[in-house]
Amino acid sequence: MLEVIFMSKNYIGLENEKIEGVVKSLNDYLANLNLLYVKIHNLHWNIEGNAFFQLHSVFEGYYEAMAKSLDEVAERILILGHRPAASMKEYLNLATIQELDSKGLSAEESINILEADFLSMLGQSRSILALAEDANDQGSIDLMAGFIGEYEKALWMIKSYKAK
Ligand SMILES: [Fe+2]
Repeated sequence: MLEVIFMSKNYIGLENEKIEGVVKSLNDYLANLNLLYVKIHNLHWNIEGNAFFQLHSVFEGYYEAMAKSLDEVAERILILGHRPAASMKEYLNLATIQELDSKGLSAEESINILEADFLSMLGQSRSILALAEDANDQGSIDLMAGFIGEYEKALWMIKSYKAK
């Protein structure tokens, strides 16, 4: 009987216990995406200097990407049979990305902030992919693999931007 409970599966045939671990990490990830959605607006608004026009547009592209990603992650949590965190209060409790005060930022400062946060998201994406592999959760593996490629591409672009 204990074995039956331990091996219990959800409506799409995935092991409940392992999926709970995936979902917990996906909710933390969702919180960080929501925080980044606001934080990258902050960069978009407060960037100053002669790279303004370029970076203002670049940051807009990234906060739009965050909006798309956070919806995909929340819907993945629902597909897995759980409820996504859905309030700013929960996001602030769960997020590991640090918020940023509203103040003028140079190109270098704003790019360094974005680089550090994208590196953090890349690491989280890889950790969730490993959890999803252990749970045989190919849908979450696929979602994370896509995000990993996007963060890696963004980090390559940032590295190229910073090259002397
Ligand atoms: Fe704008």
